[in-house]
Amino acid sequence: MSQDIIFHQLFERETSSYTYLLGDPKTKEAIIIDPVVEMVDRDLKLIDELGLKLKYVLDTHVHADHVTGSGEIRKRRQGVQVCLSSTYQTPCPDVHLNDGQELEFGSIKVKAFSTPGHTEGCMSYLIGNKIFTGDALLNRGCGRTDFQGGSANKLFESVRGKLFELPEETVVYPAHDYKGLSKSSIEIEKKFNPRLNLDIQKEEFINIMDNLNLPDPKKIHEAVPANMLCGMPSKSEHMDTQFVHGVPTVSASEVSKKLGHLKVIDVRTKEEFNNELGHVPASLLATLGDELDVALEQVDKSEEVVFVCRSGMRSANATIMALEKGFSKVYNMEGGMIRWNELNLSVEKDMGGS
Ligand SMILES: [Fe+2]
Repeated sequence: MSQDIIFHQLFERETSSYTYLLGDPKTKEAIIIDPVVEMVDRDLKLIDELGLKLKYVLDTHVHADHVTGSGEIRKRRQGVQVCLSSTYQTPCPDVHLNDGQELEFGSIKVKAFSTPGHTEGCMSYLIGNKIFTGDALLNRGCGRTDFQGGSANKLFESVRGKLFELPEETVVYPAHDYKGLSKSSIEIEKKFNPRLNLDIQKEEFINIMDNLNLPDPKKIHEAVPANMLCGMPSKSEHMDTQFVHGVPTVSASEVSKKLGHLKVIDVRTKEEFNNELGHVPASLLATLGDELDVALEQVDKSEEVVFVCRSGMRSANATIMALEKGFSKVYNMEGGMIRWNELNLSVEKDMGGS
């Protein structure tokens, strides 16, 4: 019976996000699912009021619309472990979850189901008769599939092939609700979900998802890189670091002072590398795309890496890409080689990089 578990559904208004706190009444061990960084004070206060001992923080996925509170909670509660799908190649979680993996708090079991589609790494968590679906299945809806490795085809398989195979009375608790419905059930969603009810065929669903034309979430540029690091992107130990749209950013003058102690990767083309702007002395050329992918495989993740391009745009994308690959000490050089030249810093031309 549900009285055998402590259960609180918590809400964050700005992004309509749900956070769930669950505890074992006997041992007081607890978990929290999808905390939001701005609400961590509230969540920890409630945990203390209830006398709970937090064991795990579980994120259903790398969110694009808000910054997770997982890293902040781990910092403030010793011994808490952050759990995220192993699909994301980031070193930040303590537990990298695989499909079917189980965790325990007290005598209560959590089973992780891989439910990709909204993002490649989405997980749903089954606890007793409750399924926490993240953005895979919402109350009468589903998460979008147009970024972060999303796929309408995969989402259809995840919902219809996995979630809808659960007992019909299973209660559905999503990561968001925009309609004021706090929960649903597998039975209700099979009947009334306008995108995924049992009368809808896969092609129809893909067509619906391909034509949503939604704007990007407001916080996407800040949230995705931050969430690859459990919501806590790090500042450089050696350089003054700002977060510009969530991207760790350093100035050209900071980089010039620390040359020799950093790896500088120029992500422009070979022609640009040797054009009139030149390049940062001793920088490595690895053009954004496949070439940079390959180059990063050779880079030690404990080293500080600064990305450079012409004006700072491509290098910001390179920084996000590196964060997504699990690098934590990567920075964008603001203003690129244009700024570097404005400051009359020394450049190299027509050498290296090939
Ligand atoms: Fe999401």
